[in-house]
Amino acid sequence: MCGIVGYIGPRVATPLLVDGLRRLEYRGYDSAGIAILNGHGVETRKAAGKISRLESLLSSSPIEGNIGIAHTRWATHGAPTECNAHPHVTEDGSIAVVHNGIIENASTLRTRLTERGHVFSSETDTEVLAHLIEELYEDTLEKAVIAALSHVEGTYGIAVMAASDPGKLVAARLGSPLLLGLGEDEYFIASDVSAILAHTRQVIYLDDGDVAVLTRDGYDIFDLDAATKSHVVSRVDWDLDQIEKGGYAHFMLKEIFEQPSTIGNTMRGRLLEEEGTAKLGGLNISDEELLDIDNIIITACGTSWHSALIGEHMLEELTRIPVEVEYASEFRYRNPIVTDRTLCIVISQSGETADTLAAMREAKRRGARTLGLVNVVGSTIARESDGGIYLHAGPEIGVASTKAFTSQVVALALLTLKMARLRDLSILRGREIVAGLQALPGQVQQMLDRADELEELAEEFKRSPNFLYLGRGFNFPAALEGALKLKEISYIHAEGYPAAEMKHGPIALIDAMMPVVFIAPHDSVFDKLVSNVQEVRARKGKTIVLTSRDEPALEGLVDYEFRMPETLEMLTPVLAAVPLQLLAYYIAVKRGSNVDQPRNLAKSVTVE
Ligand code: AGP
Repeated sequence: MCGIVGYIGPRVATPLLVDGLRRLEYRGYDSAGIAILNGHGVETRKAAGKISRLESLLSSSPIEGNIGIAHTRWATHGAPTECNAHPHVTEDGSIAVVHNGIIENASTLRTRLTERGHVFSSETDTEVLAHLIEELYEDTLEKAVIAALSHVEGTYGIAVMAASDPGKLVAARLGSPLLLGLGEDEYFIASDVSAILAHTRQVIYLDDGDVAVLTRDGYDIFDLDAATKSHVVSRVDWDLDQIEKGGYAHFMLKEIFEQPSTIGNTMRGRLLEEEGTAKLGGLNISDEELLDIDNIIITACGTSWHSALIGEHMLEELTRIPVEVEYASEFRYRNPIVTDRTLCIVISQSGETADTLAAMREAKRRGARTLGLVNVVGSTIARESDGGIYLHAGPEIGVASTKAFTSQVVALALLTLKMARLRDLSILRGREIVAGLQALPGQVQQMLDRADELEELAEEFKRSPNFLYLGRGFNFPAALEGALKLKEISYIHAEGYPAAEMKHGPIALIDAMMPVVFIAPHDSVFDKLVSNVQEVRARKGKTIVLTSRDEPALEGLVDYEFRMPETLEMLTPVLAAVPLQLLAYYIAVKRGSNVDQPRNLAKSVTVE
């Protein structure tokens, strides 16, 4: 996620700002920049890539001054280039802005500003703010910022400075965390307390709608009506390691608990409630071209391959287009049938997986249109695909994929909705799916609030040498994903199977030592699943059942039950993933595994 640091005080700003950016590196970023306000006005340095590149730029071309702002960017709009790095400035360089969040009406604002003569130099939504502040600047910087923000839709955490209002920093937040650090005659702005903990533990966490003005003499906080606001000064007691994980013991746990907001971010600005469809700006394929697609291939690896199986089910059921899911490592060496009416969907959290990249290139070579469902903006797959859908799930640090998986499934539901509503899906059915998607963040939160139930279950089964995960329909891939989560972080052997497949072999494994996880929401195949639970129970297997309502049919068959909220059948894998992520996490912790970096695994497999 992007990082912001600001400083105003008696010390030279540059080293403090760069050190603050370094403290934010763990959040993931792909470019960095700094702006200093001094006797020469606003001086800016920016670099794509790691902070070390910014540092070498600054050592060859240093900037003096004791007021400044700095930023690490996790690209959302526009590739991770120097040009797109923050700070963004006006044409004359006199106003500099750094921004976290997404300005949803950026394109509209950019068009209007361009019509009024503003010249843009980047592809970002953020640059709009610099030009808007310039245009509305009459009296003080803070008044211009407040006026500009009144035109903005979306989320922001910003820090702004202007040559025409020297000796001042302005900060504002709406939906993206921002805080003030109160030092000894010096003040800081930061998106995350880890950036300034070396200098002060006295902080003010800004609230949504707050605007803060910092000068050498102190600070004031206003609301968007420019009325003075009271504030609470807090003392930070965390240590740095805790802060980077947001107080969670591991990045994986933090990312599991981020899912209500990351699922929301994947959908943000993309649901059209009235029309019962989805708006996907980056597909780069017209509706007519989508209507001309007569077959779909989805290719991926690992967890992304599991979401691909769910996408296959969604797309075939609602668009009636034949869909084939291929392991990327298999697809690239087969002689697949691909035509110019083939849509190849490429799913990859990192956007750098070697097999997936090669499979996409093979599909392109054979004439397919390619769509990348990718989390890392500007990654190779994102850049080389013909178009795509960014997950907007923020950097996934834990090697075991969690929030990326649920965002992949949501992105596939959005794509399915759009394509199906171009075909036979009714507006009423489309609205149902929109409503189902909108309910997901709250439903995921309901289950996260009961994480202790999964921790107790983990205590019960932490020593089991094997696990089976069983599901049907949309939840067969969810069973595969649950098994992968467990095996990759706890090193317990776990297998996912279609529940009906039990009697074709795996049932020989069932005994009193075998825990079997059933994903059994009340859906079209629930009754079939009950008989599978009976088969396991009859052989003394331990039955762990994820249900969605009271089920008399399961009476006396369930050893452990976890209740999930009810949703549309096609969305149940998003909900089922959460308790299974938590079960795997707690078992792995209890077994002493290195949860965030499990043995033998890499976050992105960039080699064959
Ligand atoms: C998921 O928990 C694993 N770490 C792994 O299977 C991963 O999903 C796979 O390597 C694909 O990665 P990608 O999504 O970045 O392409």
